[in-house]
Amino acid sequence: MNPAKVLAYLERERTTEITLPATILKALPDDPSAMLTDLSNLKTIRYHGEKLDLHWPPIELVHAEEDVPEPKTEEQDWTTAVEAVRTFSNAALQAMRDALPHIETVLPQQEHVLERWHKALENPGGASWDEAEEAWRAATGGTGTIEYARRCANHLPQLFSGEVDPTTLMFPEGRMDLADALYRENVMGRYQHATVAAVVRALDRPLRIIEIGAGTGATTEHVLGNLHPLTDYLITDVSRYFVDQAGKRFPGNRYGTFDIDADGQDPGEFDVVIAGGVLNAAKDTDASLKRLKDLMAEQGWLIISEPTVEEPWVLMSQAFLMAKPTDARKSSTFLTHDQWREALRSQFELVLDLPHEDHPLHALGHRVFVARKDKR
Ligand SMILES: C[S@@+](CC[C@H](N)C(=O)[O-])C[C@H]1O[C@@H](n2cnc3c(N)ncnc32)[C@H](O)[C@@H]1O
Repeated sequence: MNPAKVLAYLERERTTEITLPATILKALPDDPSAMLTDLSNLKTIRYHGEKLDLHWPPIELVHAEEDVPEPKTEEQDWTTAVEAVRTFSNAALQAMRDALPHIETVLPQQEHVLERWHKALENPGGASWDEAEEAWRAATGGTGTIEYARRCANHLPQLFSGEVDPTTLMFPEGRMDLADALYRENVMGRYQHATVAAVVRALDRPLRIIEIGAGTGATTEHVLGNLHPLTDYLITDVSRYFVDQAGKRFPGNRYGTFDIDADGQDPGEFDVVIAGGVLNAAKDTDASLKRLKDLMAEQGWLIISEPTVEEPWVLMSQAFLMAKPTDARKSSTFLTHDQWREALRSQFELVLDLPHEDHPLHALGHRVFVARKDKR
C-alpha cells in the first residue's frame, strides 16, 4: 500500500471517507503526486495507530480506536467430526504401539519424539486405520489426511533411524494433494480458517497483511477475497517451494520467505500478522512472537491458530519434520492453552481466545488467538 497508489485510488473512486494506517496517512500530503491529485471529494480520513499531529484542511482527520467483534461461526452438528478426530487419534496410538518394539536406531534429533510417544501411549486408546478412514470420510468427505498418516505408519522405525525422509511421505513424487488435504479436511482447520478470515474481514479497511507459514495456502484462500482493494497481502513461508506455489495459486499478491526463527529480516510494517499453525514450529516461541511483534504497526493485530493438546497423529507424522524446541515444550509438541495465554499476554493485549468453552469443538483443544500490539 504505497502512498501514490492510495492517492490514485482516492481520486479514481471519488472516495468521500476512508480509513488508513497512520504511517500511510502521514506520508500522503508529502507524496510528489499529492499536488496533482484531485481529492475534492474526500471529506474524512480515519486512521489507526500512532496519534498524529497532522492537519490537512479541508480533509478532516480522525484518530479512531478499533475493536474486533467476535466472529459468528456456522451453526452445525459437529458430533461426527469430533468423533472422527477421536478415532483418528486412536488409530495413531495403535500404530505407535505396534511400531514401538521395532524401533532400534533413533537419530539424536528424534529422541524427544520417542519420549513424547511414551507419554502419549499412557492413553490406552486404539482403532484400526479402516475405522479411522471410514469415520474421517463420513465427517470430511475426504481421506487424504488418513492416507498420509498411513504412509507414515508404514515407516515409523525408518523415520526414527533417518532411513526415510519425512518430506517424501508428505509429498509423494512431489505431489501436493496429501499436504493440501492435511490443512483442509480437518474440522478444526476449517473452523480456524473461517474464524481467522472473519476476524480480518471485520477490520473492514485497507490493510497491510503479512501471512507467516502460509504453506499450502489453506488459511490464505479463506482470507483473500472481499478484502478492500487497497489491501496489500504478503504471503510468506520459510520454504521457497511453498512460496513459489503460492505465487501460482494466488496471483496478484506479494510473496517472500520469512523464517520465524531468524533475526535480521525486514519485510516492512503491517496492520495484521496471520500465523496459522506455524508458531509451533518455532524453536523459541517468545523469541518468535517478538519477531512478529516487530513487524506490526502500533495497535496492529496478531491472529494465530494453534493446537494446544498433544495430537497422536502429529507425533507419528509431522513431528519428524519439526525442530526440537528450546522453550517450555519440554515433553509436549505444543504449548498448552495456559502457556499460550501467558506467552501472548507477556508481549500483547490478548483480545480473543476462541472457541468458547460451550462450543462443541472446544474439547479438541485447537485455538484461535487474536492479540493486539499495545502502546508499551
Ligand atoms: C502446519 S503448516 C501451516 C499450514 C498453513 N497455514 C496452511 O494453511 O497450509 C506449517 C507451515 O509453517 C512453515 N514453517 C515451518 N517452519 C517455519 C519457520 N521457521 N518459519 C516460517 N515458516 C515455517 C512450513 O513450511 C509450513 O508451511
